Formats: sequence, structure tokens, C-alpha cells
Amino acid sequence: MNPQVQLAKYSSYHKIWLIILFISITLVTPLPLENLPLEGQFSFEEINHAARDFGNRYQLPPLAVLHPKSVSDIAKTIKHVWKMGQGSDLTVAARGCGHSLQGQSQAHQGVVINMRSLRLHPIQVVVQNGVVQPYVDVYGGELWINILHECLKYGLTPKSWTDYLHLSVGGTLSNAGVSGQAFRHGPQISNVHQLEVVTGKGEVVNCSKKQNAELFHSVLGGLGQFGIITRARISLEPAPQMVKWIRVLYSDFDTFVREQEQLTVAKATFDYIEGFVIINRTGLLNNWRTSFDPQDPVQASQFSSDGKTLFCLELAKYFKHDEADLADQEIKLMLSQLSYISSTLFIAQVSYVDFLDRVHVSEIKLRSKGLWEVPHPWLNLLIPKSSIHRFAEQVFGNILKDTSNGPILIYPVNKSKWDNRTSVVIPEEDVFYLVGFLSSAVPSSTGSDGLDHILSQNKRILDFCESGRLGVKQYLPHYSTQQEWKAHFGPRWEVFKQRKSTYDPLAILAPGQRIFQKSLPIS
Ligand SMILES: Cc1cc2nc3c(=O)[nH]c(=O)nc-3n(C[C@H](O)[C@H](O)[C@H](O)COP(=O)(O)OP(=O)(O)OC[C@H]3O[C@@H](n4cnc5c(N)ncnc54)[C@H](O)[C@@H]3O)c2cc1C
Ligand SMILES: *[C@@H]1O[C@H](CO)[C@@H](O)[C@H](O)[C@H]1NC(C)=O
Ligand SMILES: *[C@@H]1O[C@H](CO)[C@@H](O)[C@H](O)[C@H]1NC(C)=O
Ligand SMILES: *[C@@H]1O[C@H](CO)[C@@H](O)[C@H](O)[C@H]1NC(C)=O
Ligand SMILES: *[C@@H]1O[C@H](CO)[C@@H](O)[C@H](O)[C@H]1NC(C)=O
Repeated sequence: MNPQVQLAKYSSYHKIWLIILFISITLVTPLPLENLPLEGQFSFEEINHAARDFGNRYQLPPLAVLHPKSVSDIAKTIKHVWKMGQGSDLTVAARGCGHSLQGQSQAHQGVVINMRSLRLHPIQVVVQNGVVQPYVDVYGGELWINILHECLKYGLTPKSWTDYLHLSVGGTLSNAGVSGQAFRHGPQISNVHQLEVVTGKGEVVNCSKKQNAELFHSVLGGLGQFGIITRARISLEPAPQMVKWIRVLYSDFDTFVREQEQLTVAKATFDYIEGFVIINRTGLLNNWRTSFDPQDPVQASQFSSDGKTLFCLELAKYFKHDEADLADQEIKLMLSQLSYISSTLFIAQVSYVDFLDRVHVSEIKLRSKGLWEVPHPWLNLLIPKSSIHRFAEQVFGNILKDTSNGPILIYPVNKSKWDNRTSVVIPEEDVFYLVGFLSSAVPSSTGSDGLDHILSQNKRILDFCESGRLGVKQYLPHYSTQQEWKAHFGPRWEVFKQRKSTYDPLAILAPGQRIFQKSLPIS
């Protein structure tokens, strides 16, 4: 071949290659986020809010906050990040209310999706005649308090709650959602029929026990790792109107737990069963969870333990207006079988809404005093029944000197109400206790109220659980190394990891949980 022709050929090949290279660079280089065609919009300036949470200890600013107007906005955004591939370290976190404790809803230099802005349609309550149970369809960012109000218009209510209702559906379903109804109905994740989820590949998928069951179970209690919940179908039941709200005190731990547990097993029993620990309190209990009857704060002041450790059993009986007498009789009978300190019985009558929304009253009070936005070094543990006495002896008897930093919740739940196909990790025993140390680190305080003091106390509790091999699992877990996460999941780690590589193989979602890192392979 003539060298001239050869050269011409070579240079035209060259040109073609250059053109191909140029085209592929243009295709691969993604549009900047702000150029994505969305119905909602990104905000690059007002990002500080998304760097904060209720825990008030971790503050990692994102690059941008997405205010979606449609499910497809969320899908397009995630698909966009997915297409950027492993080379980009951009991550995405859904943020419901940011009531997490250690940055779980944050995405450092990533995209935070404000789930609250996705409210396309009103909450839809569906009542069907016949055998099918009523349910409600809600958006992932919807608050439980709004769902309650809407359902009550139909005389219906969700069955299982959290103690505080200004939390989002997506946020609590990513954990479990546990409160005093869980002994009967299981956690909130046991009361969901169907979810719509945007996976880590940007796919929108409906799932339930029958359809895409693996995704359904993965997402429930999945710590936001497998997809963003954009819609949920929640099971309902007929709503009561009123509540008898009861507190009684015990001085003996063994009697307290025995009777508390008996109540959860009994056929005729209360509708809500919780409890808390009071250590070395003398004055008015000045924290948010202990205001018993907002109308009558004097009652609360009588709750003083004068150095002793006391155990408060908290109960509620639901009823309709015309059933008040019957409810009174039933309560009387049930209380007559308990051996609490008889002078300590307090009964208040409140509306169902006021009962469920009780913590909000305290939130308003604390906010007005600047005591809501303080660090919250909370520790929530799930403790097997077989370990609860050892735990109580050491922790309530030795490690903790008082409960002035906040309430300590304690109540049992039965594993049979938890679906072991979900992602939530619970102890390996039929009955286990939720024990929540809900501490606030008050700003002006030093010494025993300070953040460092509370954190070191938490560490002593965790160290004791570890060294004593109590079989304890953290609820709302937080760890900083993958080794610790593996220990948390135990034999379930392989399944969790497998689910991650199926639904979010690039580890784009919920980086604030610190389980997987985007730049590293899932292993
Ligand atoms: C005062 C108070 C009381 C509480 N009481 C209880 C209680 O009684 N029982 C209980 O179980 N818990 C309780 N919690 C804990 C609460 O359930 C969790 O902190 C929950 O995550 C808060 O919901 P959120 O909407 O603020 O979630 P966020 O903090 O916004 O998010 C939590 C995690 O879920 C992910 N996430 C959020 N939305 C979605 C979504 N739509 N899809 C997928 N992932 C999502 C986030 O990325 C993050 O990883 C309480 C918290 C507070 C502050
Ligand atoms: C999921 O189900 C809901 C309600 O049943 C429906 O409106 C929605 O379009 C479905 N989404 C997908 C992706 O199929
Ligand atoms: C009870 O609390 C007081 C003050 O908060 C403290 O001085 C005292 O040592 C505590 N008592 C016990 C038994 O821990
Ligand atoms: C737990 O629930 C199961 C199933 O309902 C029941 O058989 C068992 O007695 C319960 N156990 C305890 C200790 O409450
Ligand atoms: C879940 O529980 C069922 C019934 O108790 C059991 O057969 C099954 O092996 C359990 N599955 C897992 C994943 O633990």
C-alpha cells in the first residue's frame, strides 16, 4: 500500500477514535445535579439544616438538599448518582425528620433528600367491607401524628406506635418503631402491608410479603440501606376515644418485671404497657418524658425516690365514651392482681390523641426553655429476658447514680410478634426487654450532667453487656467500624450484605449509618 494512503487511512481512523472518545466522555460525564430535569429542586445554599439531627453531636454538611415533588424526582436523582459509578463518591440520604441520634440521616458532601416535601396527595384511608382489614396509604415522609388525625376522621387508627409521633414513616420503618403496644401488635414494621421503594439503582418498585418479598423484608428495619421508602400501606383498626393512663411504683425489681411480663401475656390486659426506672430522685422530675398529667404537675412532684431506686409501671386502657364504666371495672380487676406500692397509684383520663401525642407537650415546654436542641447521647438496648436481672443489678444498682439526665424506659416484648425475615436485629430469645437511656446533656451543666460523663456511663453499660455476654443488641444501633457492625448482625451479616449488593451495590444510600462505604466493595 502506498504510504500516503496508509497515512490518510491512519488519520481518518484516528479521527473516528477521537470522535468516539469525545462522545463517550460527554455521555459518561454526568450533568451537574442542578441540570437534572426535575419537578422539585435542589438547594445548594440552605444545607445546614440537613447537617443536624436530634442527637446534636454529628454535623456533616451535604453538597445539596433535594426537595422532591414526585417519586420520579427521587428515582432520577438516584439513577443519576448510580450512573456516575464507583468513581464518584456522591451518596444519598433520605431525611424524614432528622430525629436520628448520630448522623444517620446525613450525607457528607452528598445529597440529602428532604422526604417531607414529597406530599402529593392527601393521606388515603381505605375501608373495605368484608374480611379485608382497613389500611391507610401514606407517603414515606409523612408524620405519624398527621396519619393519626386523618385516620381518626374514619374512626380508625394504626395499631403500633412510637412514644413520639413527630417522626416520619420512612424513618421509623427503617428501624422498627417500638412502643407500649408492641407486646400485642409487634413493632410498626409488623403492621405494614406494602411499600413503594426507590432502590440504590434508581428503580421504583412496589413490594409486599407476596410481591418482591425479599426487598420488602430487607427495607423493614433496614436502616435505609436498600431503598428509599416513598409510600407505605399501614394496617388499621377501630380507634378508641379515651384512655385511662395509669402509673404505679414498685421498689422491688423482681416483682416489677414479673408483674409487667405477666400483664403482657394475660388475655385480658391493658392496651399499652411500658415502664421506667427512677434512681436517686428527690425533687420534681424535670425532664420531658416524666410529665404525667400536663394539667396537674403537682402529681408529678410526688414522684420522688429519696435516694431509693423505684420502678414505675406505666399502663393504658383504651375505651369509647360509652364504655367508661366497663373500663373502670376491668382496670380495677387487673390492678387488684398486682402488688405495687399501694399509695402510688395514679390514674388520669385523657383523650386518645393526647395520650399518643404525650411527648409533644414536653417538647414544647423544653423548646421554650432551650432544652430541646441539646446533645442527646441516647442508648437503646434490647436485652434478653434471661439477662435482665443481671443487667438491672449492675446498671441500675451500680453504674448509674441518678436519673437526672433523662428517663430510662424498660418494658418487655415477645419475639413471636417480630418477623425474622426483616432486617432488624433482635436478641435470640423469646422475650426481650427494650431498655432506653434517653439522656439529655444540658448545656450549662458540668459534672454528672455533661456530655462526656453520659457518654462514659453509656460506655460502661455497653462494656458490661459485652464482658458479661448478656446477648444484648442495640436498637437504633450506632457503630463506627464494619467489624462492630458484623458483630451486631452476627449470623445475619451475610444476608444483610447480600441484600446490599442486590439493592444498592454501589453503597449510595444512607451513608450516615456507616455500615458500608461507597468507595469500597461490599464485603
Ligand atoms: C423524642 C423521640 C422519641 C422517640 N421515640 C421512639 C420510640 O418510642 N420508639 C422507636 O422505635 N423510636 C423512637 N425514636 C427514634 C426514631 O424512631 C428514629 O430516630 C427515627 O429514625 C426517626 O425518624 P425520622 O423520620 O426523624 O428519621 P431520620 O432521622 O430522618 O432518618 C433515620 C434513618 O432512616 C433513613 N430514612 C429516613 N426516611 C427514610 C425513607 N423514607 N426511606 C428509607 N430510609 C429513610 C435515614 O436515611 C436515616 O438513616 C424516638 C426519637 C425521638 C427523637
Ligand atoms: C405501587 O402501588 C401504588 C398503589 O397501589 C401505585 O399507585 C403505584 O403506581 C405503584 N408503583 C409502581 C412503581 O408500580
Ligand atoms: C444521689 O444524688 C446526689 C446528688 O445528685 C449524690 O450526691 C448522691 O451521692 C447520690 N446517691 C447515691 C446513692 O448515688
Ligand atoms: C410469646 O408469644 C407466644 C406466641 O403468642 C406465646 O406462646 C408465648 O407464651 C409468649 N411467651 C411469653 C413468655 O410471653
Ligand atoms: C424464622 O423463623 C422460622 C419459624 O420460627 C424459622 O423456621 C426460620 O428458620 C427463621 N428464619 C430465619 C432467617 O432465621
